[in-house]
Amino acid sequence: MTAPLIDLKPDTRTLLEEALAGLKATPRHLPCKYFYDAVGARLFEQICELPEYYPTRTEISILRRYLPDMAQHIGPQARIVEYGSGEGLKIRLLLDALSSPAAYTAIDISREQLQRAANALSESYPAVDIQPVCADYSSALSLPRPTHNFRRTVVFFPGSTIGNFAPAEALGLLRRFAALAQQGQEPGGLLVGVDLKKDRQRVEAAYNDSRGITAQFNLNLLQRLNREVGANFCLEHWQHRAYWNPTQGAIEMHLVSQREQQVKINGDAFLFSPGDSVHTENSFKYTVEEFTELAASAGFQPEACWLDDDNLFSVHYFTL
Ligand code: AVJ
Repeated sequence: MTAPLIDLKPDTRTLLEEALAGLKATPRHLPCKYFYDAVGARLFEQICELPEYYPTRTEISILRRYLPDMAQHIGPQARIVEYGSGEGLKIRLLLDALSSPAAYTAIDISREQLQRAANALSESYPAVDIQPVCADYSSALSLPRPTHNFRRTVVFFPGSTIGNFAPAEALGLLRRFAALAQQGQEPGGLLVGVDLKKDRQRVEAAYNDSRGITAQFNLNLLQRLNREVGANFCLEHWQHRAYWNPTQGAIEMHLVSQREQQVKINGDAFLFSPGDSVHTENSFKYTVEEFTELAASAGFQPEACWLDDDNLFSVHYFTL
């Protein structure tokens, strides 16, 4: 079965412009949303299975344990809108727990993976209106209206993807979620997974796995620029680095130049000295209180919060 996909995927020109702007800025950076081409999406699926990468398996264990309770809060005939839906594994757990879900909108920047997941879901959930939207959701975006009647709109944002946004941007995103959750017969809510602050060793190990998959995932961004915008990064001359920044409260990922080198991208030339870094990702971590406060500034009321036994990860339900 195929679910018709709405394609708002950023084009090559946008990728090029944003990459050039980031590399000309101080400090140099590249947007982490561009990790997820077809290769990167597969690498991220592998990251989720790594022994060191605790967030995915911990969140899934929280979902499995508390979904009946979560489904009670969400109520029947809900419209679920998921941001960064990826492989589409977690939504299955949620749809299975909900009472007659009406519609499911899946938004993701990774088109092939999104189409694959949406096709499989429309096969498994023929009664649900499945709407895949390929888009960059870091800025405002208009969504299709579901064809089925629904009671509430609930935004589903698992995986601690919220951590990729600096607090000011996260606030803007949460405000857009709050506006979206107004749609429907009754005010809706937000079910969001948030990675918690913890000891440095544990969190750094999650981004420095022993198999080097996270390094490949990071380096794939340069390979993507080579493939799609004709850059000439030499992958052997770059190294993955990830560390906890306690001032920011975030894991930072960087690509570090291993030598003096020049890289050409579409007529622009960039010089890198040994040790020069390109910042590729932030992954902010929160305490339950910090995140509750952030969501409250966006207009959300805390309704429930579920944790694993080791307090590694949190899943929150907020209402309007
Ligand atoms: C998908 C954004 C939640 O920040 O942990 C995993 C991405 N980066 N390993 C994260 C990621 C490196 C991941 N998120």
